[in-house]
Amino acid sequence: VNLLLHLIIGNAALELVPWEISRHPAVVRNARIREKEPASTLLDRTLHHTAMLQLKDGDRRGRPDLIHFALLEATSTPLYIQKMLKVYVHTCRDYVIHLGESVRLPKTYLRFVGLVEQLFEDGIIRTGNKTLLTLKKNRFKDLLSQIEPSKTVGFSRLGIRRPLEDIAEEHAKQSGTVLVVGGFPRGHFSEEISLNLTASYAIHTLPLEAHVIIARVLYEFEKHATI
Ligand SMILES: C[S@@+](CC[C@H](N)C(=O)[O-])C[C@H]1O[C@@H](n2cnc3c(N)ncnc32)[C@H](O)[C@@H]1O
Repeated sequence: VNLLLHLIIGNAALELVPWEISRHPAVVRNARIREKEPASTLLDRTLHHTAMLQLKDGDRRGRPDLIHFALLEATSTPLYIQKMLKVYVHTCRDYVIHLGESVRLPKTYLRFVGLVEQLFEDGIIRTGNKTLLTLKKNRFKDLLSQIEPSKTVGFSRLGIRRPLEDIAEEHAKQSGTVLVVGGFPRGHFSEEISLNLTASYAIHTLPLEAHVIIARVLYEFEKHATI
């Protein structure tokens, strides 16, 4: 194995229902149906839209579906399966989820939601003696200082337009590159993320979904991996 890459899904729209709206009827009703406390359920725009109108940055929050897609994509790639890729989610509220090796996430959305709610409650998900997921309060730059990357490459429509082949060619030479893709439905990286990127690249003129960017970027880096 000659390549170790890190993928961070940054500013991810993944969090529990915040206290400001935990008594809102839409939130209480949906929690009751699932027999959970409102504050133990994930914020989800499809369920909590009216309540979320009160939230600051509400249009960038409450999209666990985006993170589900992005993680299924990343964890289904040859790089991840062959243990050449580590995957992290950094959330909009500064939690960091570490995925263990060879994690197979539920394909069903409701089971994914249940798993993440459990993770927010316990801080760790294990099966047998294997750790699947851990969650800690952590800022983006603290995660970077733990990883100690050679380079931190962000993907953003605001970045420099550059062919993906060139980006992979340059960065796949060194091990330990961190790739950062946004886990939010609109807008751009927070200042904290932007300021900590070595470079930021646009790989298409269109705004694309995070899972499409992840698929393409990982495929391009995979071409440089030998086993
Ligand atoms: C749904 S987009 C975020 C919001 C957005 N609509 C935008 O203009 O990029 C999710 C993530 O995909 C990546 N992305 C989307 N389009 C991209 C592009 N053309 N080039 C590079 N990265 C892109 C970025 O990392 C972005 O944060």
